[in-house]
Amino acid sequence: MTPFFFLVTVLTAAVAIAACRQTTPAPAAAPVITQAPAKPAEEAYVPGLGEIMTLQQMRHTKLWLAGQAANWDLADYEIKELGEGFDDVVKFHPTHEESPVDPKDAIPRMVTAPVNDLKAAIMKKDKKALEEGYDALTKACNDCHQATNFGFNVVQRPASNPYPNQVFTPKRQEVGGPK
Ligand code: HEC
Repeated sequence: MTPFFFLVTVLTAAVAIAACRQTTPAPAAAPVITQAPAKPAEEAYVPGLGEIMTLQQMRHTKLWLAGQAANWDLADYEIKELGEGFDDVVKFHPTHEESPVDPKDAIPRMVTAPVNDLKAAIMKKDKKALEEGYDALTKACNDCHQATNFGFNVVQRPASNPYPNQVFTPKRQEVGGPK
């Protein structure tokens, strides 16, 4: 073999080896289909029993103020709101902590009758019946607090009006415009 051919042979071999060694590029990574993680179900806001009660306290107060002002529309509104609030108690807090009496049982047993009596008094626009019904409801509130081991929460007829920005006197029906 002439030196020339030897050189060619060596170079050819070298090129061949180099070509073989060339690592084939890794195939483009297949797109990984990442499943979006399942979104946690929106956590619905559930008002605590104490929060519902704070609203009940407000409605209880306004019911009295509306009754004293003979504002029957407002009284009717407040007694309905109170009824809905008690529905929420049964729905969201059928039982409560270590309470020996379950709210789901206490509400129909203690509250439904005085609420219905108040609705009837308001329908009749009977102020005396409203006051009696109010005291009966207030007693039911306190009896339930006692029964559920929250007897230190005591409610009563409001001693004053804590809502200076609300008008409790009935809106005058201005028939034929102001005089
Ligand atoms: C199911 C029986 C039940 C009835 C009926 C009931 N309550 Fe309650 N009330 C509770 C319990 C239990 C609590 C304590 C809740 C808690 O764990 O925060 C409470 C708490 C309260 C509080 C304290 C709230 C605070 O955070 O300061 C008030 C005020 C209140 N109730 C008012 C009323 C009024 C007014 C009525 C009637 C119109 C009423 N409740 C009827 C069971 C009852």
